[in-house]
Amino acid sequence: MKDDNIQDLSWDEWDELQRPAPEVTDFDRVVDEAISRRGFLGGLLAFGSGAAVMGTGLLKSSTALADAHGAFGFTPIPAFTDNTIHVPEGYEWKVVARWGDALFSDAPSYEDGHGVDGSDRIFGENTDGMDLFVLEDGREVIAINHEYVNPGINIAADAEGRDAYTPEEIQTLMNLQGVTVMEIADSGNGYEVVVDSPYNRRIHHNTPMMISGPAAGHDMLKTSADPTGTVVLGTMNNCGSGRTLWGTYMTCEENFNGYFGTTAEMEDQKPIELPDDFSRYGIGVNSRYQYETLQDRYDIVKEPNEPYRFGYVVEIDPADPEAMPVKRTALGRFKHENAAMAQAEDGRIVVYMGDDERGEFMYKYVSNGTWAPGEPTDGLLDDGTLYAAVFNTDGTGQWVALTPESTGMDAAMICILTRQAASAVGATTMDRPEWIAVSSTLPEAYCCLTNNSRRAPGFTNAGGDPAEPIAGSPNPREENRYGQIVRWRPDGADHGADTFAWDLYVMAGNPVVGLGPYAGSENVNEGNMFNSPDGMVVDSKGLIWIQTDGDDSNEGPYAGMGNNQMLVGHPETGEIARFLTGPSGCEVTGLTFNTDYTVAFAGIQHPGGTWPDGAGKPRSSVVAIWRTDGAPVG
Ligand code: FEO
Ligand code: CA
Ligand code: CA
Repeated sequence: MKDDNIQDLSWDEWDELQRPAPEVTDFDRVVDEAISRRGFLGGLLAFGSGAAVMGTGLLKSSTALADAHGAFGFTPIPAFTDNTIHVPEGYEWKVVARWGDALFSDAPSYEDGHGVDGSDRIFGENTDGMDLFVLEDGREVIAINHEYVNPGINIAADAEGRDAYTPEEIQTLMNLQGVTVMEIADSGNGYEVVVDSPYNRRIHHNTPMMISGPAAGHDMLKTSADPTGTVVLGTMNNCGSGRTLWGTYMTCEENFNGYFGTTAEMEDQKPIELPDDFSRYGIGVNSRYQYETLQDRYDIVKEPNEPYRFGYVVEIDPADPEAMPVKRTALGRFKHENAAMAQAEDGRIVVYMGDDERGEFMYKYVSNGTWAPGEPTDGLLDDGTLYAAVFNTDGTGQWVALTPESTGMDAAMICILTRQAASAVGATTMDRPEWIAVSSTLPEAYCCLTNNSRRAPGFTNAGGDPAEPIAGSPNPREENRYGQIVRWRPDGADHGADTFAWDLYVMAGNPVVGLGPYAGSENVNEGNMFNSPDGMVVDSKGLIWIQTDGDDSNEGPYAGMGNNQMLVGHPETGEIARFLTGPSGCEVTGLTFNTDYTVAFAGIQHPGGTWPDGAGKPRSSVVAIWRTDGAPVG
């Protein structure tokens, strides 16, 4: 390999090398100040027991859960550190798809080896966001992301120790990422992939797709291969996901910067000159997978516009295998984690989105047009306004519109250099926004702020102020190693509103070894503690399913937390219960359900050891989980 050390880094660690982030974000400061004003636990966790102060109108749909206070349909499980999955008593799980499984009977499988031939017709690696769709003919189809690859797992062992991958190896890596659409069915043995289904499809790093919205056709999106700036090959680093109200899949391009580099050499020790905006997005001369040696478009010196064609939300129709995916530039260009759709009272479409990088922002998009079931969807994700979130220390907040007037940028540039546009309006810098989920029963939404490990005393924050504790404040997080979930309620119970109230649904922590705020908020205890919330989905009952991507060392500050896991949170009581633990080394990410919620599908990404086969290499997989009595999960 070119550089074993690079491949050993997580995406976050690698990104830190490309673009070191500020140690402290504005959101840290907002939380500190809010704690100082309102008190740590009593104030920041205001919506749970104190929900009445928010107005009874906000609780209009909550009766089902209120009746079920503290009554999850499962017995919480303890933390585990072994190399398998654990679920509650009365539940079972099985693997539905592992990377390398053939989607077509004429494709090779993992057992056949994993060369380039047919690598675009097998289930890809490192599953992430997913959604299940029931098509008009009743068939069930899952669209699922393959965020990135581990070359040491995906390509032949003899690649170890070599300086460069072969063209075939790079092509293989390209094919194993992107998105899978696959039909699943239960014919008596639990859900399985329907091999050769006409809906089965792989979308990878060379799949043609359209570019739509304000940035389509802009000069910055034109390349020598696409002088129109409207057609691009591939979607990459597909992290979280979302579903539209009209039954399509939204896949989100996150760490796209890591795929670009250059083969150009420095001249006279002078750095290679790059566009100024590249550094804000972490685009530099080093790539992770050597794509630039295979295709010029990944070489930022030869094709400097290609990176402007990535970093978007891409809409895919799971019901039409021939339909070209569409990059929706109106939803902005940044490291999209996921996309959570809601609808304003007046029928406009709302999409909440996080930019997963320390010190970046939370966004929402609001369409100009309105929609009702059965109506056309044209333009709904192309014509609208982007907003960035501002959090105030008094528990209020605003969505600030990114417009030519507020940013000094035209509509296309706002969609291409969205981070700069949000900076122009003074949006609140956040602790790595991961998944956002919109409640199905309450007019509120949640965002996982996964962690900010570099926060430390003695540093200066982005605004230039010292990052020392504010006088009178317990200052809970000198190092935000555990993460938290922020919750907001739009004013008027309308996701179209420009203002909201916020609190923290949970501050993760360790009540056994942690002191003060390191112990976490009141709804964290010895039996449910976790760190680094990341994936998040709300089910039909309003329960909040939380998945973690954190430190699974089970030592020091993380002692007792065990492997990465999935928990279920109650939106009103704040009660949180551990539902699943993953195999050692993994992150649990991606969750969807069948129609009647009797089966949950969860993703196990980058497992360790030999999971799940007990021999050979570890294989990221989708697992089905169900109650043995056939009742809904959760
Ligand atoms: Fe791909 Fe931010 O997780
Ligand atoms: Ca994630
Ligand atoms: Ca993460």
